[in-house]
Amino acid sequence: MFNSKMLITFVCLLSICCFFASSQNVLSSSQNISSSQTTSLQDNSTSTQDISFIYEEPINGLKLYNTYTFSLDGSLMIWMAFEDEDHPACMLPYLHLRFMDKAGKIKYMDFNYTLPAEAICPINIDILPLTNNYAMIIYVKSNNGVKGKYGIIINYSNESINEIYLGNADGFVGRSIVPYKGFINIEKPDKEGIAIWRWFSLPDIITGEVVKQKNGEFHAPNILSYTLVDSLNFLLVDGGFGFMYILKYDETKGSDPNLQYWRVYVSFLREDADSPTIPYLVYQTTERLNNITINSCTTTYNAEGYVCTMALNNTVMNKKNNKSRTEINYYQLRFLSTGALEQLNKISNPTNNADIDLEILYYGGFLMEHIHSTMDFYLLDNNGNYMQLRESFGPEFFHFNIFHINNTIVGIKNQSNNKLEFLLKSIPRLNNRRHIYMPAINEVIDPSIKEIIIKYTIPVKLSTANVSIFQQSDDPSKPDLLRQTFSGDHKLCTVGSDNYTVHIPIFESTFSQPNSSYYVLVDNNFVISQERDEPLMGIIKKNIWTFSTKPLNMLVQHSNSVAGLLRLNEEGSLKFLQMNHSVFFKSMIQEFSKVIPVNEQRISTSGIWKYDTTSPKKILLTFKINEAKDHAIEPNSQMIFEILRTLIKQKRFTALSSNEYTSLIDESAPFIMTRNYFEEYHSLIIIFIVGSIVLIILYILARLKNPEARNFVIFETWFIIQDFAVDLAFVLLKVNNTPHLKIPTMIFFILPIVINILLAINIFVSEMATNPSFSKWVKESLPLSSMCTLFSAIDIQILNTLSSDLFGLKIFSIPLTQRSKKIMLWGSIINIFIEDVPQIIIQGLYYNSVITYDLIPSLAIASGGLIILNKLILRSYHALIRWIHRRDKINEYNKNRRLSAASIRSIRSNFGN
Ligand SMILES: *[C@@H]1O[C@H](CO)[C@@H](O)[C@H](O)[C@H]1NC(C)=O
Ligand SMILES: *[C@@H]1O[C@H](CO)[C@@H](O)[C@H](O)[C@H]1NC(C)=O
Ligand SMILES: *[C@@H]1O[C@H](CO)[C@@H](O)[C@H](O)[C@H]1NC(C)=O
Ligand SMILES: *[C@@H]1O[C@H](CO)[C@@H](O)[C@H](O)[C@H]1NC(C)=O
Ligand SMILES: *[C@@H]1O[C@H](CO)[C@@H](O)[C@H](O)[C@H]1NC(C)=O
Ligand SMILES: *[C@@H]1O[C@H](CO)[C@@H](O)[C@H](O)[C@H]1NC(C)=O
Ligand SMILES: *[C@@H]1O[C@H](CO)[C@@H](O)[C@H](O)[C@H]1NC(C)=O
Repeated sequence: MFNSKMLITFVCLLSICCFFASSQNVLSSSQNISSSQTTSLQDNSTSTQDISFIYEEPINGLKLYNTYTFSLDGSLMIWMAFEDEDHPACMLPYLHLRFMDKAGKIKYMDFNYTLPAEAICPINIDILPLTNNYAMIIYVKSNNGVKGKYGIIINYSNESINEIYLGNADGFVGRSIVPYKGFINIEKPDKEGIAIWRWFSLPDIITGEVVKQKNGEFHAPNILSYTLVDSLNFLLVDGGFGFMYILKYDETKGSDPNLQYWRVYVSFLREDADSPTIPYLVYQTTERLNNITINSCTTTYNAEGYVCTMALNNTVMNKKNNKSRTEINYYQLRFLSTGALEQLNKISNPTNNADIDLEILYYGGFLMEHIHSTMDFYLLDNNGNYMQLRESFGPEFFHFNIFHINNTIVGIKNQSNNKLEFLLKSIPRLNNRRHIYMPAINEVIDPSIKEIIIKYTIPVKLSTANVSIFQQSDDPSKPDLLRQTFSGDHKLCTVGSDNYTVHIPIFESTFSQPNSSYYVLVDNNFVISQERDEPLMGIIKKNIWTFSTKPLNMLVQHSNSVAGLLRLNEEGSLKFLQMNHSVFFKSMIQEFSKVIPVNEQRISTSGIWKYDTTSPKKILLTFKINEAKDHAIEPNSQMIFEILRTLIKQKRFTALSSNEYTSLIDESAPFIMTRNYFEEYHSLIIIFIVGSIVLIILYILARLKNPEARNFVIFETWFIIQDFAVDLAFVLLKVNNTPHLKIPTMIFFILPIVINILLAINIFVSEMATNPSFSKWVKESLPLSSMCTLFSAIDIQILNTLSSDLFGLKIFSIPLTQRSKKIMLWGSIINIFIEDVPQIIIQGLYYNSVITYDLIPSLAIASGGLIILNKLILRSYHALIRWIHRRDKINEYNKNRRLSAASIRSIRSNFGN
């Protein structure tokens, strides 16, 4: 079955393809790789040594069927199979794959899976590794007599997932150059030159399911009198696919010396497009060639577009002997992704033989492979000139492959028993393609760095693809954590003045975890070359540009829990209103804890939410970041707050925007820290209220015991002054937060003052006029009396204090008339309705329209409540006292009618309080 012709062909289609990195040994066995090193004479490159090793197959009877090399990580897949003794063109239906990583570690995969009969006899089967868990077996089978190409997704735990139809039998299947962008099947064009393509996703990580993402058609240029000779596909730098058409003029139509007999067109199916571009003409010739064969096309590393190797088969007449012979000339064809031709020149053929293969090398130049008894490789430079450098493998080698990643040819010697001998020869690199990274690979960095830098080897401009930073997950089964991602044209990155360096800013939240590993992915087309506008290849595999953060600084300061306030966008506000609030909060906290990342217990919420007064359709939510329990291992709450604040500010560029709930945050409103005194000092406020109530009760009890004792009036006055003080503070400091409450607050602050002043003046004037002892008192203590007028503006009731005989002091013994006492009583009742009740209502409204409820409004609402309580209790109490008192007095009067009318009047006057 493994005839040499088949095996000596190169299997390099997949070599651009990336691949699965996995070092776990599934069916692990000790590796038996013995290395011996010999020095190659011709090779004067960086590495001048050949490497050889022996692979020993543990299962007897398995023969090498094929190898695949994977450029991104330098791994090698060896496909072993049993020959079918009875049918030499067939293999037995068992799948045995050996995956060898860069370090030589081997993962053995012996599938208990029977390959489809149609695929193995005769052998018509291929394998396309898709992820580090899944691969696809591709084969042709007939369905109702129609041949088609099918793929079976298998995982490396021995299960087959599903079979998918790829396209007609002759199509091409290939993976995108960008690992996660899936794979494509492009059918062979039909008679009209239409080729159907179907683009599939990668297998789902969990279910392994592959879905078709989009499909469409490539249309060959529709030019009369030309026929499609051949077509070819290649991979685009951006992750898309290119398709090439070779057209030939139909010679029966005539011959015109200016006629272009051959035309080559190229069409691009870009990664983000739903249909390919129109075909661009990249080559045409008036020569009547026998044929044009395009060997392969690949992307150039340093943004010089695409390069294809092309063979022109021509018949030339020897004029001397009039004999014709065919000659084959090789060309390189370079074109840009705009379809513009960049370079066309002949490639020399040092083998003087037509039986060659041409390989485009990753580090520049070409490798010409002459397949004959000894396998020879010739190195050509970028222009196709022979560099006088030849590598030979002996005749005992029967299979070859190339590691494009390190310019190495792998030769495999004829198998003896279970042993396969590999020989690796290095090819000199013509270009050193190393970009310089800062921080350097594997560096330990300070988490507070402000930017990272890439220095390219050519002048660059920023483009549309992304640069992303991930935190490596400690648990390999969990996905890595996206820290930040944005595209080159997002105005965040800058190109240095030398035009070679790109500066990528780092958010404060990005390296949030000490002692953790991070890596950077740079998409292809993150930058383009300044000279040609061609996209550059990026770093599309993790674990290339990796670095880690320093361990946590020992001195982390404690910080109390902090509360923060964020705003939902309109969509989020709507969703919040429609669903269970606590579920919404909980989901949000879960997502925060993943993104920050921090233990879920560190974030909580009081569940408070409010409409945002400045943007009525949006809702504000409060969250609390709890203090750390163990500062040796946890960041303090202040640090978490800052991380979250940055994440919200940069939401578009962080993982917040990829989560269901956190994506509903309105990043245009900052995450602000709020101090909720109501919560922080609630014990203090409760003490204040309880204390005041106790005072009132004490006061009442004391008065009950001794109705004449007036000392406790001081408390009443104290309540009034204190209430006024917090109301004043509220008016001065807080009401500005709620513009709609400003006018009512002012009205109900000023109106009572005016009314109280009027009442006080009224009392003063009438007392001065009618009460000689009052005017005497005023004259005796002028400063005090004017102060009293002032205080009475707060509440007319304060005058009560002045007539209370407090502590027996003279100044507290104004002789007020009955009329004034009545006015004071009514004044204080009016105050309840024009001052105390409205103010409490305003406080309630204020509480409803702000989310941060702090000390002053808390006190205002408490003292306002107390004042009302006090007045109500006192008024009713006084009324009660008066009633009891009067009843007693009347009884007494009835008992002894000797009492004079004057004494009755004096008794009555005592009720006036
Ligand atoms: C393979 O290696 C293991 C341990 O390294 C050894 O025990 C075993 O004999 C080796 N097998 C062969 C065939 O060399
Ligand atoms: C190898 O070395 C020779 C001379 O030492 C030099 O001329 C030639 O360019 C070198 N080849 C490469 C590929 O560097
Ligand atoms: C090239 O890569 C292969 C696979 O990773 C490795 O085995 C080989 O040693 C490398 N060759 C050189 C010269 O580094
Ligand atoms: C393969 O699977 C079949 C049933 O699916 C089972 O009978 C057989 O023993 C398995 N063979 C191996 C080698 O696991
Ligand atoms: C011309 O080359 C194509 C490959 O490009 C091949 O399929 C076709 O058979 C060739 N035609 C002739 C007449 O040799
Ligand atoms: C070149 O073309 C001639 C005539 O079509 C054909 O016989 C010959 O096999 C071709 N050579 C190669 C190498 O394709
Ligand atoms: C960088 O590019 C700009 C134009 O894009 C050019 O004006 C400038 O001179 C270049 N700088 C250097 C140092 O080449």
